[in-house]
Amino acid sequence: MFPLDFPLQQLAAFTQATRVLDPFCGRGTTLYAARLAGLPSVGIDINPVAAAIAQAKLVRVTPGAVVRLATRILKEGEPDDIPDGDFWRWCFEADTLRELVILRNALMSLNSPTAAILRAVMLGILHGPQNKGLPSYLSNQMPRTYASKPAYAVRFWKQRGMEPVRVPALQVIERRAARLLAATPAAHGGRVYLGDSVQTLNRLRQHFDLVVTSPPYYGMRTYVQDQWLRSWFLGGPAEVIYGSDGQIARQPSQEAFIEALAEVWAATARRCHPESRLAIRFGTIPSARTDPERMLLASLEKAHAGWVVKDVRIAGTPSKRARQAEQFGKAGSAVDEIDVIAELADVPQ
Ligand SMILES: C[S@@+](CC[C@H](N)C(=O)[O-])C[C@H]1O[C@@H](n2cnc3c(N)ncnc32)[C@H](O)[C@@H]1O
Repeated sequence: MFPLDFPLQQLAAFTQATRVLDPFCGRGTTLYAARLAGLPSVGIDINPVAAAIAQAKLVRVTPGAVVRLATRILKEGEPDDIPDGDFWRWCFEADTLRELVILRNALMSLNSPTAAILRAVMLGILHGPQNKGLPSYLSNQMPRTYASKPAYAVRFWKQRGMEPVRVPALQVIERRAARLLAATPAAHGGRVYLGDSVQTLNRLRQHFDLVVTSPPYYGMRTYVQDQWLRSWFLGGPAEVIYGSDGQIARQPSQEAFIEALAEVWAATARRCHPESRLAIRFGTIPSARTDPERMLLASLEKAHAGWVVKDVRIAGTPSKRARQAEQFGKAGSAVDEIDVIAELADVPQ
């Protein structure tokens, strides 16, 4: 995720913006910044977990509405397709798993703003450490940020004799919704599309005048499989998926990656008004042995779409730059990041 400051600064510097686009929206930081600035926005991401979290950044509902929806689903829904096997028996207590499956089944076909928030709440409470006092997560002991692989997790729980405890889903939902929605700003519209950015942009009808985005960094692995349990909750299979599902970073060569980015910038230009602004944060890891500036500028040039580069900067605020320089000196493992600002000069081809 890039810090909220980056899209906020771009919005502050381009006050004529009326509609914002992020073709690699991740968890929706740009969309949230647009909302704070009072603007509608559209985000696209190929990762279902990222898209579901981003969608929740656009809507405004009350905690009461979320709890009412969850209560209704738990009362009326069906516990079809409860996954079976060692992992599931050790990860969730039987009644908790039943509730989880009922909520999963119902949410797969619900698209209201309240459902978007309930979905994001569920992704947040699905797994995490067991805390003292009232539980915050539905699973047996697990990291919060990524889901352990099943065989490893089962060994961990068995060796320690850690049986899963009953966690009533509704109680955790209620607490999380209250916290998440405590002070939400007014919503200003927009939408998140789950899919490939080029394909989705080609289908869109809207036009934008500010694009703030960050493609996957070159050389950085995307750990899609670490989110396997959250992917399952969103309708994916009940096992770890090792594919990369159209992730743009999984290209066979640097040239292919540049080519793929160029297609995104061209498709973006077709959806933008003349004189639109494009702000990109991009980076590579030092072991990728390449220059992010060269790669990004080459991709903009290859797009032949009318994007004229106005500025190239080292990413971040001066204090962050200093911190980065320090890290480089010490460990040599910091990510090399730049910000590129371009403007759409001509009517795009
Ligand atoms: C660096 S992250 C963006 C993070 C985002 N700025 C945030 O604050 O959360 C890049 C995103 O691009 C997405 N992505 C990769 N390939 C894509 C494609 N072909 N189409 C759409 N999104 C893609 C990844 O799933 C990932 O979420």
